[in-house]
Amino acid sequence: MSTSSNSSLICALFVLISAVAHLSPVTATDHIVGANRGWNAGINYTLWSNNHTFYVGDLISFRYQKTQYNVFEVNQTGYDNCTTEGAVGNWSSGKDFIPLNKAKRYYFICGNGQCFNGMKVSVLVHPLPPPPSAATAAENSTPNAASPLSLGWLLQSSVSCAFLWFGFSWI
Ligand SMILES: *[C@@H]1O[C@H](CO)[C@@H](O)[C@H](O)[C@H]1NC(C)=O
Ligand SMILES: *[C@@H]1O[C@H](CO)[C@@H](O)[C@H](O)[C@H]1NC(C)=O
Ligand SMILES: *[C@@H]1O[C@H](CO)[C@@H](O)[C@H](O)[C@H]1NC(C)=O
Ligand SMILES: *[C@@H]1O[C@H](CO)[C@@H](O)[C@H](O)[C@H]1NC(C)=O
Ligand SMILES: *[C@@H]1O[C@H](CO)[C@@H](O)[C@H](O)[C@H]1NC(C)=O
Repeated sequence: MSTSSNSSLICALFVLISAVAHLSPVTATDHIVGANRGWNAGINYTLWSNNHTFYVGDLISFRYQKTQYNVFEVNQTGYDNCTTEGAVGNWSSGKDFIPLNKAKRYYFICGNGQCFNGMKVSVLVHPLPPPPSAATAAENSTPNAASPLSLGWLLQSSVSCAFLWFGFSWI
C-alpha cells in the first residue's frame, strides 16, 4: 500500500511539474552574437544578424575576451561612423546579456577601435507575432530554456503515470 501511495504521489508531482513547464512561456530566445565565433574582429556580423529573427523580449548576448573588447549600444550615426559618443549603454563583462525590449533597430559596436575591423552589429527587433510560435522563433537560435513541452507529451506522461499508478494498486 505504501508503494502504491508513494508512486501516486510521485505521479501527481510529475504531472504537475510537466503542466507548469508547459504553461510557462519559453519563447524568449538568447541570440549569441557570432554563434560559436563570438564577438571578435574580422567577422561580418551582417551575415549573422540576417540569419536570425529577433522578437521583443529576446536577448542578445556577447561573448568575448573582456581584456580585449567591450560592447556599446549606439545610434545609427555611431554604428555608421564607429563612434561611441552619446552611447545608450556599455558592457564589458565578457559575457553580456542584453534584453531587446523594444520593437526597433538596435546598434552595437565595440568601443576600442575594433568597430573598424567589423565589430559592429545591427539587429531589427520585431513585435511579438500574434500567436507565439516557439518553433519558428527558435529556429537558427539557441533557446534560453528547454524546448517547450508539447501537450501531446504531457498527455502521454499522464497516461503512462496512470498505468504505473493502477499497476501498483493491483499488485
Ligand atoms: C557583410 O555582408 C553583407 C551581406 O552580404 C555585405 O553587404 C557587406 O558589404 C559585408 N560587409 C563587409 C564589411 O564585408
Ligand atoms: C557619419 O558618417 C556619415 C556616413 O555614413 C557621414 O555622412 C557623416 O558626416 C558622419 N558623421 C560624423 C559626425 O562624423
Ligand atoms: C546619435 O547621437 C549623436 C550624439 O548624441 C547625435 O549627434 C546624432 O545626431 C544621433 N544620430 C541619430 C541618427 O539619431
Ligand atoms: C558606461 O556606462 C556607465 C553607466 O552604466 C557610464 O557611467 C559610463 O560613462 C559609460 N562609459 C562610457 C565610456 O561611455
Ligand atoms: C544560417 O543558419 C543556418 C541554419 O542554422 C546555418 O546552417 C548557416 O550556416 C547559417 N549561415 C550563416 C551565414 O550564419
